[in-house]
Amino acid sequence: MRSAWICLSQNTQILYLIFCLCHYTQAITIQVPRNTVTAPVQGSALFSVDITCIGTPTIRWMFSSVNRQQRIAAWVLGGSANVTQMYEGRVQTHPNGSLTISNLRFQDSGYYIITVTEMSGSSKDMGLVLTVTEVLYEDIQFLVVFVIVLGTLAAFLMLCMWLLNKLYHFIKVWRQRRCLPEHTATELQPL
Ligand SMILES: *[C@@H]1O[C@H](CO)[C@@H](O)[C@H](O)[C@H]1NC(C)=O
Ligand SMILES: *[C@@H]1O[C@H](CO)[C@@H](O)[C@H](O)[C@H]1NC(C)=O
Repeated sequence: MRSAWICLSQNTQILYLIFCLCHYTQAITIQVPRNTVTAPVQGSALFSVDITCIGTPTIRWMFSSVNRQQRIAAWVLGGSANVTQMYEGRVQTHPNGSLTISNLRFQDSGYYIITVTEMSGSSKDMGLVLTVTEVLYEDIQFLVVFVIVLGTLAAFLMLCMWLLNKLYHFIKVWRQRRCLPEHTATELQPL
């Protein structure tokens, strides 16, 4: 009786082991090189993922922030993507399951969740964080252009002043030279 129980127990252990192995081999893995993505307003963000699973999975990307949750795109890997109307034109799906969002806005900051579903129905989620930052460099660019324009203007004015100064001296010398003989002439007259 006791030996039979041990035998059963061993069988269940083996079964459990097989189940674990099967489960392990079937497990979906989602590897993310970067969990957090930072991009400027109007820039683009790539949510890069590396998926391994059995068969052809279905990919679904969702956006989630404090005040809203939104489906972005869903597609069967290798097929054409069903992009939510709101994201049409600024979402690009990649054959490896990655997603690129361009023309970023402040409201795009938040969590991006990828769900990979196998044919068997098992699925796995992975979340990435996007931070959309203000475009500071545009202001800097504007400042640089402004300084260059101002500098050019100042240089031009300085050149003009230098030329005018030269011209003034030239005219002065020229007039002095022209006036001199007249003076001598008028001075010489009474003699
Ligand atoms: C997935 O594909 C995109 C576009 O080809 C590429 O930029 C990205 O690096 C790929 N990601 C991984 C993890 O291979
Ligand atoms: C695409 O997504 C919309 C919105 O979720 C859904 O109603 C529609 O059936 C989907 N189309 C396809 C082809 O999957």
